[in-house]
Amino acid sequence: MAIILGIESSCDETSASILSGRKILSNLIADQKVHAAYGGVVPELASRAHQQNIVPVVQETIKMAGIMPNQIDAIAYTRGPGLLGSLLVGSSFAKGYSMGLKKPLIEVNHMQAHILAHFIEDNSTIPEFPFLCLTVSGGHTQIVKVDGPTSMKIIGETLDDAAGEAFDKAAKMMDIDYPGGPLIDKYASKGNSKRFHFKVANVSDYNFSFSGLKTAILYFLRNQTKNDPVFIQKNLEDLCASIQDSILNALMQKLEKAVNDYNVKEVAIAGGVSANSALRARLKKKENWKTHIPKFEYCTDNAAMIAAAASFLYERKIFGDLQSVPLARMKF
Ligand code: KG4
Ligand code: ZN
Repeated sequence: MAIILGIESSCDETSASILSGRKILSNLIADQKVHAAYGGVVPELASRAHQQNIVPVVQETIKMAGIMPNQIDAIAYTRGPGLLGSLLVGSSFAKGYSMGLKKPLIEVNHMQAHILAHFIEDNSTIPEFPFLCLTVSGGHTQIVKVDGPTSMKIIGETLDDAAGEAFDKAAKMMDIDYPGGPLIDKYASKGNSKRFHFKVANVSDYNFSFSGLKTAILYFLRNQTKNDPVFIQKNLEDLCASIQDSILNALMQKLEKAVNDYNVKEVAIAGGVSANSALRARLKKKENWKTHIPKFEYCTDNAAMIAAAASFLYERKIFGDLQSVPLARMKF
């Protein structure tokens, strides 16, 4: 079994993990509290925090795995997509470490890694190829046809804001701390989702658009708080439930369309928003589908998914290059 060190630094989590094959030996995540005060990730501060965290996080994850550095067979890192300054920290470290240990580098696409997190051994189910994956994170919203671990095609995506961004921006308008997604999820569980109606634009094919929703929420809240300054506080649970429902309706409608059109009943969700309890519940209800819901800890950004994706590349002897540069936008 190959032992792979995975390094993730694409946004605001510095994470390092050791996998043996696709079994986790350690998976350490240092999140950055500094952004909460700004209501969103501040790229410059994220890079600096990665720079401070990367050495201790890697050292600690190796220690927790109970291995010696020279037992590592390859060093995998997130090449993109993500914040360039953040990616530079992980990629530079990975290159230096690979040179020091004289072990190969593996370049991983962060969005593919979210999908391949399903193949980490301790998930409750592991998808069979081909499957459809709804990948929903803070920066992306995609429906991907996954024919194999290194053969994936994006069949639909957001034309503007990502689903996670819609959650976070709605939260910010209601004075909920960043990242707002998990808190909206929590308040929504006690609210009435039919109380308010927020329209999400219906765009073509398997694509999404969430920027109109943001404007609709903004105008609605502005009007209501004019008459009642504590409108948001009084109705927070119903507002969260209604907003969440609009986002999930849009996601599920396009996912259902893709499942029917492609006639692929093997369906997975991935990315930070796949931690959403209502989305998970909706998937579980799909009796005609074979659904795959990742363990909570593999939904949001983590390095175990980077090492898992890298394990497939290692098996195929697809190695990285010391000269490659991180990519803020990275296609696949
Ligand atoms: O995948 P991820 O950790 O980072 C990116 O690659 O973007 O996703 C982060 C996003 C954030 O927008 C966060 O609000 C959202 O995932 N998120 C959630 C939940 N947990 C995280 N959104 C809705 N419900 C949740 N429970
Ligand atoms: Zn992510």
